Amino acid sequence: MNWKNEYSVGVAKFDDDHVIILNLIDTYLTQSDSGLDLKTVRFIIDQLGDYSQSHFKAEEEYMTEIGFPRMEDHRRRHHEMLDQLTYIRDQCEKGEVSVVEVTAKFLHDWWNNHILIEDMAYKRFADSGQA
Ligand SMILES: [Fe+2]
Ligand SMILES: [Fe+2]
Repeated sequence: MNWKNEYSVGVAKFDDDHVIILNLIDTYLTQSDSGLDLKTVRFIIDQLGDYSQSHFKAEEEYMTEIGFPRMEDHRRRHHEMLDQLTYIRDQCEKGEVSVVEVTAKFLHDWWNNHILIEDMAYKRFADSGQA
């Protein structure tokens, strides 16, 4: 997966974050086709975790600033995703190999549903005032 202009959410800082997140997700999904060990899963998840903490916080501040009406749902979604990262880390610690597949689905959803649909909704709102 490569970055395209149509993926832009209209805030350069968030696009920069999304490029990094996309690259991590892409690395994971490409490698998981040929099998991933839990050490690598853990490594990628830790990097995503570091990035998303500050990214989510900045998005929440921005949504508050522009008065995005579905901000609370979006914030809840961010929390669920951070919980899911914690769950994946725990499964890695336990040596649970099924987490490789669970993580692939989660990351696929992160890109396709969270960034391309849920994040895109605040861009539409900022552009048009329609939630
Ligand atoms: Fe985002
Ligand atoms: Fe978000």
